[in-house]
Amino acid sequence: MSHHSDYNEQNEDSGDLTFAKFLKHNCQTTHDSVDNLVMSVKPFDSTDNYIKFLQLQAVFHKVVDNIYKNPKLNQQIEGLAKLARYDEVLRDLQDLNASEKNISVPLPQLSGAETLGWLYCAEGSNVGAAFLFKDAQNKLGLSAEHGARHLAPHIDGRGKHWRDFVEKLNTLPVNEEERATALQGALDAFAFYKVVVREIFDVA
Ligand code: HEM
Repeated sequence: MSHHSDYNEQNEDSGDLTFAKFLKHNCQTTHDSVDNLVMSVKPFDSTDNYIKFLQLQAVFHKVVDNIYKNPKLNQQIEGLAKLARYDEVLRDLQDLNASEKNISVPLPQLSGAETLGWLYCAEGSNVGAAFLFKDAQNKLGLSAEHGARHLAPHIDGRGKHWRDFVEKLNTLPVNEEERATALQGALDAFAFYKVVVREIFDVA
């Protein structure tokens, strides 16, 4: 799927971009490669595949769970802890009588400004999840109450919630060096996601 054909600039430096736009613009190509990889493993073609997708999401959301719950970040971003979705992914797995899967690569231990990039990646993933939620409902009969809890939109609506979140992200005091570190964190997050897709779905 390509949702970004209108956007070609990559790897520009910070310039006048807001923090969130800086991350977005420099992650676009990587994001789309993740989007394509995920769709290529056909996560909604069968319940078995969807369970693998949940196991993938569980690994990713487990890694970022501490970031969402970080006390200092919660002072800066009100209500952040409530946005964590690891527990919801686990409930989705339970709904389908499945459980987490161990992976061979160690889970990254994150600190400093890189956590902001991982957070951007995790929270932004709920924007595109609109498509995934539809597929989960239409192809597998799942819902926000059963099996697809973690893909459901925020109560404020997906778009509004994301705009509000971006606004908060942009108020964080981030200097140039931290911006660069955060971007590396976001790119690492996408790269890690790909590693886990390949391992769980057993694709090259
Ligand atoms: C098949 C899987 C996916 C599809 C179809 C998809 C699709 C999309 C779409 C359509 C958007 C909105 C783009 C825009 O408004 O310009 C988006 C945004 C985003 N997605 Fe995905 N996505 C997928 C997977 C992921 C994954 C796995 C992650 C993270 C691990 C992710 C992270 C993000 C982020 C961070 C944004 C926000 C971009 C921004 O506005 O800054 N996406 N996605």
